[in-house]
Amino acid sequence: MRALLTTGTPPAWAVAEIAAPVVGAGQVLVEVASAGLNRADLLMREGAYVPSSADWNVALDRVGFEMAGRVRAVGDHVTGFAPGQYVMAQTGGACAELVAVDHRLLLPVPGFLDLVVAAGLPSALLTEYDALTGVARFRPGDRVLITGGTSGVGHIGVQLARALGARTVFATTRSMAKAGLLRELGATRVINTDSEDIARALGPDAFDVCLDHVGGPVLAGLLGAAAPRARIVQIGRLAGTHAHLDLEMLASRRLQLIGTTFRGREADELHVLTARLGEALPRLLRTCDVRPVVDSVLDFSEAERAGRLLDRPGLTGKVILRIA
Ligand SMILES: NC(=O)c1ccc[n+]([C@@H]2O[C@H](COP(=O)([O-])OP(=O)(O)OC[C@H]3O[C@@H](n4cnc5c(N)ncnc54)[C@H](OP(=O)(O)O)[C@@H]3O)[C@@H](O)[C@H]2O)c1
Repeated sequence: MRALLTTGTPPAWAVAEIAAPVVGAGQVLVEVASAGLNRADLLMREGAYVPSSADWNVALDRVGFEMAGRVRAVGDHVTGFAPGQYVMAQTGGACAELVAVDHRLLLPVPGFLDLVVAAGLPSALLTEYDALTGVARFRPGDRVLITGGTSGVGHIGVQLARALGARTVFATTRSMAKAGLLRELGATRVINTDSEDIARALGPDAFDVCLDHVGGPVLAGLLGAAAPRARIVQIGRLAGTHAHLDLEMLASRRLQLIGTTFRGREADELHVLTARLGEALPRLLRTCDVRPVVDSVLDFSEAERAGRLLDRPGLTGKVILRIA
């Protein structure tokens, strides 16, 4: 089968012929239709990210964290999936013609959802659903701040907050050209972090929950807008891995700053999260219309160009590779 691999020095992506996976007990063999690319793919290519969670079951030179496709075969002890069914998953080496996935990590793709669109959902949905409903203990009526609202995960975070009943959804960007889209997705107020200070723009006691995809000085600057006992979930570090925090503010407002990642997650934890998301999924996709914003769709053979698109300043949403 054809699969995307990282090869050479400096490291680059190339499609190569490799052995097709054999479906094991408890696994489902999926013919991949499309795969979503993520910033983590770029970081992994640079050697700055090494996945280690139970959903990465292939060699480290493989590329891709998420895909959507059609079930070709099911292994022993698999329940709930049958050949021909459309599915999506966060799974290692997703940029390939075939992947073998633990059936407890699969999510069904409803008939009304295009597989190109579905391929951009699993990683962002799992990340944001876990961060919001699990880590941050979100409750309907909470006021939510999404930093890096225009990132692939941020778009989903904004929509989830709205869908789950947030009273207010604040979102940040560095480009006001993207503000209209954020409002369409459900943001009630957009802040430009290049020209505005979050705490000054929102004032104190503005949010109960923050999903922070930006880190660096943006994280330091948002503490002043947190309500007492607010939960801030540190998800991404687009603006840097270091922040100079006002610990007096953190302590006096009794804020909780909690980091999260999929690295190191055990199979059981991923199965429980996938099952929890699976229960919520029909309402989120059908009633609430939660969708990834698709920036561009490229052919499998154009993977290197896809990587350059992913790294460009004007990026707005997901870059998807069409595999079949
Ligand atoms: N912890 C986890 O489990 C997990 C899971 C998935 C993703 N992540 C992390 O979440 C972040 C977003 O991932 P993604 O794949 O969704 O990214 P992405 O779509 O590539 O995000 C691109 C957007 O991020 C914003 N951005 C880029 N550099 C920035 C900077 N220096 N400061 C502020 N904003 C910046 C830009 O929006 P504007 O031009 O509008 O500012 C850009 O369009 C990454 O850090 C990723 O590693 C973490």
